[in-house]
Amino acid sequence: MRAPGAGPARLLLLLASLGRGLSSGPQDLRYPPKRIAVIGAGIGGTSAAYFLRQRFGKDVQIDVFERGDVGGRLATVNLEGEDYEAGGAVIHLLNLHMKHFVKELGLAVPKSQGGLMGIYNGDEFVFEESSWYIWNFVKLLWRYWLNPLRMYMWVEEILDKFMRIYRYQAHDYAFSSSESLLHALGGAEFLQMLNQSVEESMQKSGFSQKFINEIVTSAMRVNYGQGANINGFVGAVSLAGADNGLWSIEGGNKLVCTGLLYASKAKLIPGTVISIEEKTRQNGRSGGTMQLYEVTYNSTSGLARDAYNIILIATPLNRKIANITFLNFNPPIAEFSRPYHQTVATFVHGHINSSFFGYQDPSYFNLHGIFTMENPKLFINSMGIVSPVKDRKDASNPLLGPQVWKIFSPQPLTREQMNLLFLSYDTTTVKVWLAYPHYSPPEKCPPVILHRRMYYVNSIEWAASAMEMSAISAKNAALLAYHHWYENMDMIDQEDLHERLKTEL
Ligand SMILES: Cc1cc2nc3c(=O)[nH]c(=O)nc-3n(C[C@H](O)[C@H](O)[C@H](O)COP(=O)(O)OP(=O)(O)OC[C@H]3O[C@@H](n4cnc5c(N)ncnc54)[C@H](O)[C@@H]3O)c2cc1C
Ligand SMILES: *[C@@H]1O[C@H](CO)[C@@H](O)[C@H](O)[C@H]1NC(C)=O
Ligand SMILES: *[C@@H]1O[C@H](CO)[C@@H](O)[C@H](O)[C@H]1NC(C)=O
Ligand SMILES: *[C@@H]1O[C@H](CO)[C@@H](O)[C@H](O)[C@H]1NC(C)=O
Ligand SMILES: *[C@@H]1O[C@H](CO)[C@@H](O)[C@H](O)[C@H]1NC(C)=O
Repeated sequence: MRAPGAGPARLLLLLASLGRGLSSGPQDLRYPPKRIAVIGAGIGGTSAAYFLRQRFGKDVQIDVFERGDVGGRLATVNLEGEDYEAGGAVIHLLNLHMKHFVKELGLAVPKSQGGLMGIYNGDEFVFEESSWYIWNFVKLLWRYWLNPLRMYMWVEEILDKFMRIYRYQAHDYAFSSSESLLHALGGAEFLQMLNQSVEESMQKSGFSQKFINEIVTSAMRVNYGQGANINGFVGAVSLAGADNGLWSIEGGNKLVCTGLLYASKAKLIPGTVISIEEKTRQNGRSGGTMQLYEVTYNSTSGLARDAYNIILIATPLNRKIANITFLNFNPPIAEFSRPYHQTVATFVHGHINSSFFGYQDPSYFNLHGIFTMENPKLFINSMGIVSPVKDRKDASNPLLGPQVWKIFSPQPLTREQMNLLFLSYDTTTVKVWLAYPHYSPPEKCPPVILHRRMYYVNSIEWAASAMEMSAISAKNAALLAYHHWYENMDMIDQEDLHERLKTEL
């Protein structure tokens, strides 16, 4: 809508910038940028390429740098000829960007599968689902009284406000920080959630300690490998994930990333970005000077350099993950090697040892998912039966024969630990992740604007790390870059958008 296309819009823009005269600064902003770099080809980077193309049009060159596989933390592992989701696995029904991508790219979504779950405290199961719906309901009511229903309402209320982002973004509004984005959605209440743990947030809302220790903690452990001390916002995101209506993509979630890359007509550059340096160049067209970013990267053909007008960084800036050096920036770009949390995903084809989980008679054991509470002697966060990303079978069959289990743990499992968990097993595959931020509220998100035209998509992970959050932040960064370039400052950090957009159709 605001793209300076051919014709009158272009002319108006030209006149407007002429009117500003020579004092408008060294940049010649009447022209579209020539080259944009995106660093990282996970869901953040590939959706950024997609949204950048939408905004900046077909002529700009978009290069996406990727050191490993396209998909990043969306990846599959192979076990006995079948692929399984090893990183980001489930998507919420109301993740509208992901939903849109799947539709646009023509990907398939298999029917999601159920299976009973239980919560293990290290000695016994404190809660077990039953296949009889009514009995389940009675058990929940008996143990937690109205807490489950209240949680549903609590999450719903937050989700309702969160959904405003789609409206703002559909109208092209952008935010200059992750905090101002959250503030536009849920005001001081959302920011307050970054300042306290989900435990505190829920205590204040009157949830019982038992419910927090059992249900909430086990959800945090399975989703983020951490306890109820993570910030309230990521906690709410995590509880929304306890909802029904979760889905994933046939063939693997990473197919969204390859699809978006293709749809964006961006160029994939396989290589590791080592440094970014600010450079001043003569601008041939106006005779003035122009600021560029020089990207140095290491590829199979050795070290290479390229210059860009705009850069989006779509990987965590952490020495153990991206290790990018910023050269000659004045003032220098702050170093933020904040810790990422290690989670190990182990896939095992074998027979579970139900007596380890307190079952006398293994024939009674019918759980497909084991969640855990906080207990120092526990060496796993969760384990569950998984289906391959292709031809997902109905997992509600009885536990006959060996199954493929996915186990999350903070450390790689030892042989002794494996022998406790399984009666017997044959193949295993292990994937060690620096998976998501190690949260410790009060949380402050790193800046989105690292420099004049350099943006940090992964800032949002410190509010909550999830595929949809990366996509939302990618769209925000693309819009922000666009509005900065064309000086549409009235499209950034607007207050009261919710009220203002109510009257628009
Ligand atoms: C085990 C696990 C389970 C999860 N479960 C869920 C879930 O169920 N639902 C959900 O929504 N989310 C889940 N998440 C979180 C989700 O996967 C992430 O939030 C999301 O995938 C992050 O995407 P990204 O593009 O921002 O980062 P990444 O996917 O990490 O992408 C960054 C990319 O940049 C590349 N890169 C890094 N440095 C350089 C460099 N110097 N030069 C070039 N390239 C570089 C990396 O190789 C990587 O491909 C899970 C994550 C993990 C690890
Ligand atoms: C959150 O805490 C920071 C200090 O850590 C404070 O500056 C800020 O005002 C707090 N925000 C809210 C909404 O309470
Ligand atoms: C670039 O990669 C090659 C091999 O892939 C490696 O030997 C070299 O040390 C790397 N250089 C830098 C600066 O990282
Ligand atoms: C990061 O890169 C610098 C040089 O670019 C190197 O000296 C340092 O060892 C690297 N750090 C890690 C953790 O790889
Ligand atoms: C199964 O679990 C029990 C109880 O923890 C343990 O004694 C046993 O060694 C485990 N392994 C096997 C193969 O039974």
